[in-house]
Amino acid sequence: MRIERARGTRDFLPKEMRKRRIMEERMRDIAERWGYEEIRTPTFERAELFTQKSGQAILKEMYEFRDKGDRHLALRPELTAPVIRMYINELKMTPKPTKVYYFGNCFRYEEPQKARYREFWQFGTEIIGSDRPEAQAELIALAFHILKSLGVKAELHVGHVGLIRERLRVLHADEEQINTVMRLMDKGEREAVIESMDERKRDEIGYLLDGLSDLIDSKDKDAFKEARDRNIIASDSNALQELELLLELLEYYGVDYTLNLGIARGLDYYTGMVFEIYEAGGKLGAQNQICGGGSYRLAKLFGGDDIPSTGFAFGVDRLEEIFSVDDKDLERRGVVVVPIRDKDADREVMKAAIEIASRLREFVPTHIDLMNRSLSAQLKYANAHHDSFAVLVGKNELKEAKVTLRNLNTGEQEKISVDDLCDEIKGLF
Ligand code: HAM
Repeated sequence: MRIERARGTRDFLPKEMRKRRIMEERMRDIAERWGYEEIRTPTFERAELFTQKSGQAILKEMYEFRDKGDRHLALRPELTAPVIRMYINELKMTPKPTKVYYFGNCFRYEEPQKARYREFWQFGTEIIGSDRPEAQAELIALAFHILKSLGVKAELHVGHVGLIRERLRVLHADEEQINTVMRLMDKGEREAVIESMDERKRDEIGYLLDGLSDLIDSKDKDAFKEARDRNIIASDSNALQELELLLELLEYYGVDYTLNLGIARGLDYYTGMVFEIYEAGGKLGAQNQICGGGSYRLAKLFGGDDIPSTGFAFGVDRLEEIFSVDDKDLERRGVVVVPIRDKDADREVMKAAIEIASRLREFVPTHIDLMNRSLSAQLKYANAHHDSFAVLVGKNELKEAKVTLRNLNTGEQEKISVDDLCDEIKGLF
């Protein structure tokens, strides 16, 4: 019976894996040079790690199950909560800020479509110990540096969930009311927001909402001044000061931005600046968000101190779709060592062939016959495999302490000592 892949998952063939490795190496290399260290957390966690902040509703978006010991577990839908859990368990004593990065697969029970999968990969970074604009700017600049190295054109949108919350607090709204207002605002339900407030605050919230929606619609920094003049945001607003400094630092880093106070990130843990990066070339269709992140406080919720943090994650699969690499770089040309079998000297020839292959394998992809094939069948395999050179090892060659090196593209060949062979091949790969 033919068994199909599970819905929303993919197989990656050798060429695609090579492309992913090239991307991964570039990302890793840059993250390391910016002073981040790699970590890894388990693929599954206790389900409560994800429900604690987001509530039980998140369960329907996750792969969650009970194991044989009746423990409630979940395949990770993202890596920020696991990283903070790990930090509290293992890294609390490291000097702050702790700067880490990760590559990992994530699982979400979503409707699969182009660039949206049930198993996908994230490359992310977290700065644990700071949610200051300096940390935010560094992360955004790092994300852009990585995108540049991958040749991806992208657009940055920056917002701040604190700005609106802060203003609502001035209206003496409690946290629950604020959450309701934020949710309704996200859906654009102005009247419902007004009704959700106490009667005597309704005029005020109406004025505020109109001002806030002007602010949300505006795409540049000058809107802040106007909003301040109209008392839509307080002039001593912490969120505003933070955002203004961030935008200035982004200019120092040379990163262009669009102000977008309407960004409502899907995850509930953000407390301050939030940002999203979209692919600008139109190659991804509706799923064009390639990166998301922001500042948050999760450590206290998981039993640690109240540590501010900032992070982001790229959708690696989406990046892979837009990242283009020269086809030549994806081909893996190598060498095939061809033992010419001979009844009288079979062992001798095999021994020599294995020794030669071992030396070549120090620096070049090398095959050796594994199917006891004839000379012509071995060469046919080498051609089909696009190998560049065959090294023929036979009884006669061995007598002269030489092998035959054949260029499979031109058909030219020469007899050559094993030391010269190694030098020549090394120079070519
Ligand atoms: P997120 O926006 O949910 O944020 O995911 C980050 C990125 O993962 C998205 O921008 C998108 O490119 C990719 N992604 C999400 N879902 C899918 C899917 N079903 N198929 C393919 N790609 C997908 C987070 O996960 C946060 N943990 C980011 C963060 C880190 N915030 C602070 N630190």
